[in-house]
Amino acid sequence: QKETTVLSIKKAENPIVINKNIYGHFAEHLGRCIYGGFFVGDTSKIPNTAGVRNDIIAALKELKIPNLRWPGGCFADTYHWKDGIGPKENRPTIVNQWWGGTTEDNSFGTHDFLNLCEVLGAEPYLAGNIGSGTVQELADWVQYVNFAGKSPMSDLRKKNGRNEPWKVKFWGVGNEAWGCGGNMTAEYYAGEYRKYATFMSDWENTGGITRIASGSNGADYNWTEVLMKNIPTNMIGGLGVHHYAVINWNKKGDAVDFSEDQYFETMKSALKMEELVTKHAAIMDKYDPAKKVTMAVDEWGGWYEVEKGTNPGFLYQQNTMRDAMIAGTTLNTFNNHADRVRMANLAQCVNVLQAVILTDEAKMILTPTYHVMKMYRVHQDAELLPVSFTSPMYTFEGKSLPAISASASKDKSGLVHISLVNVDSKKENTITIDLNELGLKNVTATILTSKKLQDYNSFEKPNAIEPKEFKGFKNAKGKLELTIPAFSVVVLEGK
Ligand code: AHR
Repeated sequence: QKETTVLSIKKAENPIVINKNIYGHFAEHLGRCIYGGFFVGDTSKIPNTAGVRNDIIAALKELKIPNLRWPGGCFADTYHWKDGIGPKENRPTIVNQWWGGTTEDNSFGTHDFLNLCEVLGAEPYLAGNIGSGTVQELADWVQYVNFAGKSPMSDLRKKNGRNEPWKVKFWGVGNEAWGCGGNMTAEYYAGEYRKYATFMSDWENTGGITRIASGSNGADYNWTEVLMKNIPTNMIGGLGVHHYAVINWNKKGDAVDFSEDQYFETMKSALKMEELVTKHAAIMDKYDPAKKVTMAVDEWGGWYEVEKGTNPGFLYQQNTMRDAMIAGTTLNTFNNHADRVRMANLAQCVNVLQAVILTDEAKMILTPTYHVMKMYRVHQDAELLPVSFTSPMYTFEGKSLPAISASASKDKSGLVHISLVNVDSKKENTITIDLNELGLKNVTATILTSKKLQDYNSFEKPNAIEPKEFKGFKNAKGKLELTIPAFSVVVLEGK
């Protein structure tokens, strides 16, 4: 008798929508993310739109990228936005103190970023400088990009070639205030937050902005408690959480050449997201039972040693099926907590950490993580369907983790999508889903898998890992029986 996991999916009594912003991305001035990644300049031979690579724009549109966070990260608290506007030849330089000490020419600034977001159809998420900036500087930035009437900042914007404001909704009030953002205590930051937030005006024409507080470092629940206690809910639209899947900060291991033990430990760290989100949400519920404040997991992803021979400050790493496992399980967690998690940003978009896109001069590749994001885009703004099951375990040398992760949703056209991940490195798993409960027919499926966990898309073999049609299921008397191979992601679709 084959062991099977019974997955029950029910219609929700009080439906919750999976906010598309869970599928957000992050672009920091770090290594080759902006310069030499997104931005090649308008004199480049690489086809571009106002200096941004057309192939990257097309790939991100295909993902339906809902929002993009910029300019950091740690960089945000060193960034002075006025240095990045006006004629490019007059712009001062900035030394990127956190990431490799490189000197940047500020040729990619506010206009470049916000115009890019318009081209992408993505909401910009600007991270303000609290660490080394001033209240006035951030208030001016909000006025510069958002104010429609006549004012010193809107006049300056117009002088720089942009009449209409961009109406930026999402504003980060600093980044990692407990660390690179100023090494503040939670109590001190809560005070700073209140002061900065007060002067970040909701200009009438914007329809209101969402101020997002710099959130905890992983399991620092005290940070969430202090912020929720000390900041009135009418002053805060979102509260961040950062969590990276890391084996050990002092010994992160190679991105490609990893052992099963390292795989297990990475997944243990990635799956911790479920506990983090649950516990931070419980604290937020205490102070905000109406769930007005969004939990914004505005940095997440796998973090390994940099690729050998590359600048250690550039955080460039390859992306394997292990990363596909991190992406699939983490996005399922976010979907299932859609009542509170309404924003998330994968770190980072291009050439940094768990990137969806890697470039090498004119070449570009899409990583396994990209393909998971693409398979899961169907959940954006769809209604969450609660899933219940008891997962079989993935065991390794006496340790164990849940092998199966799942989430489901129904989109506006009535299509149901079920995303499943089997993180087990060796064992396939059989799952039974009662289709009658959902009235599902005509099921089709897509799979992302490969021969080895360590497989990746290289510049020589860019399409080694790609989603394929999946036929490993049968529909018997309203019960769908599916065998999901080891380390693979499957998305089912039916109506
Ligand atoms: O994403 C890389 C860095 O990780 C960010 O700059 C910082 O916020 C975090 O520590």
